[in-house]
Amino acid sequence: MARQRIICDCDPGHDDAVALMLAANSPELELLGVTVAAGNQTLDNTARNACRVLQWLGREEIPVYAGCGRPMVRDRVTAGDIHGETGLDGPVFPPLRKAAEKEHAVSFLVRTLLESQGDVVVVTSGPMTNLGMALRMEPRIADKLQRIVLMGGSYTNGNVTPAAEFNILADPEAAHVCFTSGRPITMIGLDVTRKVLCYPEIVERMAKVNTCASRLFVDLMKHFCKTQKEIFGWEGGPLHDPVTIASLLDPSLVTTKPMNVRIDLSHGDSYGRTNCDAFGYLGLPATADVAVDVGVERFWDIIEAGLRRYGETEAGT
Ligand code: RIB
Ligand code: CA
Repeated sequence: MARQRIICDCDPGHDDAVALMLAANSPELELLGVTVAAGNQTLDNTARNACRVLQWLGREEIPVYAGCGRPMVRDRVTAGDIHGETGLDGPVFPPLRKAAEKEHAVSFLVRTLLESQGDVVVVTSGPMTNLGMALRMEPRIADKLQRIVLMGGSYTNGNVTPAAEFNILADPEAAHVCFTSGRPITMIGLDVTRKVLCYPEIVERMAKVNTCASRLFVDLMKHFCKTQKEIFGWEGGPLHDPVTIASLLDPSLVTTKPMNVRIDLSHGDSYGRTNCDAFGYLGLPATADVAVDVGVERFWDIIEAGLRRYGETEAGT
């Protein structure tokens, strides 16, 4: 069976790092490159973190492209309260050998999509700035985008404001460009990612896998779960981003419902909200397949299988 060709656009970020672990070593996927934007931390941090993770996992050949350091319109926001000053606080990484490519992420997205046969899925797990800019820079890539799969939004409550989720609120205009691209979109929002809580027993389960990936997972989760509990009171950190990749590995993992989704660009309390018309009140065409449920046990089985696919020793040392 042909491998699904993907690009991961992210803002590592603890949960982004786990998504990369799945994406970088799954036989079902061909990871063409990792593009990075500012989000959880500043771009220098998020780009460095992507390189750190791939080097640690022994996947240094996967190229990393640094992209936009600021949102398209609004002021930049970061999430150091969750992910720390480096954006990946917790693990101790060896000296970094891997560097980002010289090509800008937006240029890589445009070039790769234009050269493709329309068989590339772009998975975003951070602010959608790079993809939004790419769509504005070269609209022809829209026809080449097989699908956008994003972690972002919510049809219930946000996690930065009552209305808005971080990835969307960090660049609502970019999200609007993506959601109005006319391309198939799978929106995996907080509504389902808040169901995959990484409880202590999950961390203990993954520690027994005893690979370089599982050790990184455990060190990441020690920090991520601590800050999530401090801020939200969760007994386990919601592992948002890997649900995107897991849904590609097992399409039955996530249940979706077609909905008209519009990004609130007004500058009031709902700025950055994904307004999901779950019951078709507005009579408008659906613009996204919105995740409404996730197989929690299956998800953790996918995570465990992904960690097992790595070697026992860190390649990054
Ligand atoms: O709201 C959760 C999202 O914001 C996740 O992608 C997390 O990494 C942060 O980017
Ligand atoms: Ca993220």
